[in-house]
Amino acid sequence: LDISMIGVPIDLGQSRRGVDMGPSAMRYAGAVERLRALGHQVMDQGNIVISAVHEKTSSEAGLKNLEEVTAATVKLAEAVSNIVADNHFPLVLGGDHSIAIGTLAGLADHYKNLGVIWYDAHADMNTRETSPSGNIHGMPLAVSMGLGHERLVNVHRDGVKIDPRNVVIIGARALDPGERKLIKEQGVKVFTMHEIDRYGMSAVIQQTLEYFSTRQVDGVHLSLDLDGLDPLYTPGVGTPVPGGITYRESHLAMELLEDAKVITSAEFVEVNPVLDEYNKTADVAVALMGSLFGEKLL
Ligand code: ARG
Ligand code: MN
Ligand code: MN
Ligand code: MN
Repeated sequence: LDISMIGVPIDLGQSRRGVDMGPSAMRYAGAVERLRALGHQVMDQGNIVISAVHEKTSSEAGLKNLEEVTAATVKLAEAVSNIVADNHFPLVLGGDHSIAIGTLAGLADHYKNLGVIWYDAHADMNTRETSPSGNIHGMPLAVSMGLGHERLVNVHRDGVKIDPRNVVIIGARALDPGERKLIKEQGVKVFTMHEIDRYGMSAVIQQTLEYFSTRQVDGVHLSLDLDGLDPLYTPGVGTPVPGGITYRESHLAMELLEDAKVITSAEFVEVNPVLDEYNKTADVAVALMGSLFGEKLL
């Protein structure tokens, strides 16, 4: 593959500083070398420039740092769109999960029926009205479905970016009341920890792939929030939730996705080295990238 890597050093979509160092942490953990060793061409495009100082933040009520997050996602969308136009695989390094607004907006230039795997403890389907925190990283999936503040919904191109029925959430275990309601209303498919425990990750991925094929998607984006895994394996995240996906289940998921050759873009988000233990979370992120891009033991 021709992989174009792009970092988004932003921590303004949530309240704990440090996740802006996620791209550095994943590069330090060897992301580029790991993928090159698998025979891929990797073009590291460096980072999007985030134009904000932490002291000077703009907030609309209930939407922290709306201006800065909007500006960053507009830039990212443009970059992602250009990568796809060049027929390269976009690999986005976060940054907090608010950046998915930009990634999905850029992808929407090229995919008209994109499937999305949202690997996460959370649904990130809040709106200003339902958010308990005002943190935009809890909103990107709703925004991409056209639900939320118009500034966010209209990033890069006006309106809806993805069809809610093309979205599969894997690993959910912390949902706010408004998110539960939206999930049902919008027809989003969710494999909570209950289904992962009960049927196993292998069946969950298989059902996900079958679902996408009935939906006739024209690509599949993997949006992987490291808090989808249990904090035992990925402690360096801002909103850890116990009872999560294991390291082994996550590698299996990546391997099965790689076997199926369905993933057309990916992002790894919420790695916060300030909260981490010796860069463990970035190491896991890079190891998962290895499996996603074809690493095999034998
Ligand atoms: N549901 C909570 C909120 O909206 C937590 C969101 C966590 N999101 C994330 N990308 N880690 O504030
Ligand atoms: Mn090329
Ligand atoms: Mn999360
Ligand atoms: Mn998330």
